[in-house]
Amino acid sequence: MNCKYFGMCASCTLFDKSYDEQLTFKLEREKERFSNFTTMDFDLIKSSDKNFRNRAEFRIWWEKDENGDEILSYAMNDFKKDILKIDSCQIVSAHIQEIMPKLLDLLMEDLILSYKLFSVEFLGSTTNDMLVTLIYHKKLDEQWNELAKQIEEKLNIKVMGRSRKQKIALSSDSINETLTINNQEFKFAYQEGGFTQPNTNVNIQMIEWVLNNIEDSSKDLCELYCGGGNFTIPLSTKFNKVLATEISKTSIKSALNNCDLNNTNKITFLRMSAEEFVQGLQEVRTFNRLKDINLKDYNFDAIFMDPPRSGLDNTTRNLAKDFENIIYISCNPETLHRDLEELTKTHEIVRFALFDQFAYTNHIESGVILKMIR
Ligand SMILES: C[S@@+](CC[C@H](N)C(=O)[O-])C[C@H]1O[C@@H](n2cnc3c(N)ncnc32)[C@H](O)[C@@H]1O
Repeated sequence: MNCKYFGMCASCTLFDKSYDEQLTFKLEREKERFSNFTTMDFDLIKSSDKNFRNRAEFRIWWEKDENGDEILSYAMNDFKKDILKIDSCQIVSAHIQEIMPKLLDLLMEDLILSYKLFSVEFLGSTTNDMLVTLIYHKKLDEQWNELAKQIEEKLNIKVMGRSRKQKIALSSDSINETLTINNQEFKFAYQEGGFTQPNTNVNIQMIEWVLNNIEDSSKDLCELYCGGGNFTIPLSTKFNKVLATEISKTSIKSALNNCDLNNTNKITFLRMSAEEFVQGLQEVRTFNRLKDINLKDYNFDAIFMDPPRSGLDNTTRNLAKDFENIIYISCNPETLHRDLEELTKTHEIVRFALFDQFAYTNHIESGVILKMIR
């Protein structure tokens, strides 16, 4: 990939390396970081070199041209956090790339659409479904609705409008995605505001890596930080039943809907923070949300965790140590390293992978499978 904004746009920080050089750099850095735990070979899951993001957000920049007309541009931050106007972005999917200039042209046709617009979010899918959220510093009215509906029709996309205390979904607030994982199709509806993995191709490979590196089990799986069921639903095929928890209401709603889309009845989703769930499981606190669930019905032999950047809190880390098998997906190697300091006192690492979700940045995701030491 060769982008004209390399060195200026702060979203791509590893612009001075070819894609293969970036991978080698990240692999060596992480092997060094985790060398006190393991010297095994890491599995390395690559991204596409360009057009890999199905989710993106851009600022909108306003200015007047020489005729006094208002001109809108997409914008990012430069390395000094100043505004950098851009007319394209190479890391977003081909579909987002195609829609970006067409959308801008339509927005500039009417001040009702363009006035006080300050940011645009794109959420795309491999099925070509797309949700575009227009975010404003003004109240959205009936006239805005009418014009935004015309954009939906002209571009064959879904449009939402957001402003302070306002959220308007014109035709829908979600998009449909179908992921083919180990030759099996899984259907998902991705909800606006819910967490979704940005690099679809790497996401598929992350799920496959987990599925292909664990045994089929006649016992149950406990999952924390489950989001909309991205891992939960494919992983449920490997277990007797699954209990999955997550803090976000939007994500749990989405997970329940995704279960229906895949006719899965093996999974129970609970809206609980990881910390609350540990208290419920260890019977130190009672929760109304657990009243219809008999936790003693579960015979867990594995825990799956994909926490946010902060990693595991103390109580969750301690709970994980009680499980025979731990599967840990991490978006922050620093907190993963901290958590492994504890987990490797009781468990040994049997598999380690790096997933390059965010090519052209320093960021890397990791996957670790651990087994209890006997
Ligand atoms: C990295 S995302 C992973 C989501 C999911 N595994 C996926 O692949 O889409 C982390 C998730 O943890 C949730 N979360 C954040 N803090 C939490 C907490 N304290 N307890 C439970 N879930 C939490 C977030 O809402 C988010 O959905």
